[in-house]
Amino acid sequence: MKGYGPETFGELNAGDYDRLHDPGTTDAAVDLLSEFALPGRTLELAIGTGRVALPLARCGCRIEGIEASAEMVAKLREKPGGADIPVTLGDMASVKAEGAFDFIFLIFNTLYNLTSQEAQVRCFANAGEMLAPGGAFLIEAFVPDLSQFHNHRSMQPRHISFDRLAIEAAIHDPVTQRIDYQYLRFTPDGFRMTPLPMRYAWPQETDLMAQLAGLTLESRWGGWDKRAFAADSRMHISVYRKPGA
Ligand SMILES: C[S@@+](CC[C@H](N)C(=O)[O-])C[C@H]1O[C@@H](n2cnc3c(N)ncnc32)[C@H](O)[C@@H]1O
Repeated sequence: MKGYGPETFGELNAGDYDRLHDPGTTDAAVDLLSEFALPGRTLELAIGTGRVALPLARCGCRIEGIEASAEMVAKLREKPGGADIPVTLGDMASVKAEGAFDFIFLIFNTLYNLTSQEAQVRCFANAGEMLAPGGAFLIEAFVPDLSQFHNHRSMQPRHISFDRLAIEAAIHDPVTQRIDYQYLRFTPDGFRMTPLPMRYAWPQETDLMAQLAGLTLESRWGGWDKRAFAADSRMHISVYRKPGA
């Protein structure tokens, strides 16, 4: 999508990210992530406004972040404890936080915000390089449901009420595995468009990206409650391990 760079998500969404982007799984995510995050050094790629990083820090986790958007980091900084979390500004596919980490994670489908296979492969390599020997890299990402598309196009009402309408429109390119989304919101205050280009990867492709980065699949679940990953799972949580010293 022309004009959309790593900083664009934050420019468009930082103002109301916390209000509009609640996946409803934050507590369960923090529970599972804390199993890996304690007691070592932890890094969240695309830390955003600290949705999970702040509760992890409150649990005693030593957490840092990488984030492309200064606007998202500014929102993190406004929150209690948000000023204490070190954040490196830049593209998670290339920028490095200082030192080695025992645990790195990238959740809420954000691997797909990197809109080419090449960038996703670089992101895995970058995470692998920042991991200490024996460290783990966890990702959470959706498993595409291509049945929602007709002729590679989809239009879905997301919310209808007396004075509000939200619609998600999407176009799928099966060759590049890209989905260009446009979220349309109509309220009495006006009409707003929020574009989001994504590039999905099947779980087996992410395994290969991990393998290229020297990481091996250790666990895969179909939810934050560690339910088994199955053919009908709509998301996966995968943990990759770097060999020990
Ligand atoms: C869906 S939000 C997730 C934020 C946070 N991890 C959470 O779970 O709430 C996606 C985040 O990725 C950031 N982002 C997008 N592309 C990025 C990139 N190439 N490098 C670093 N951050 C990026 C956005 O600015 C945004 O903060």
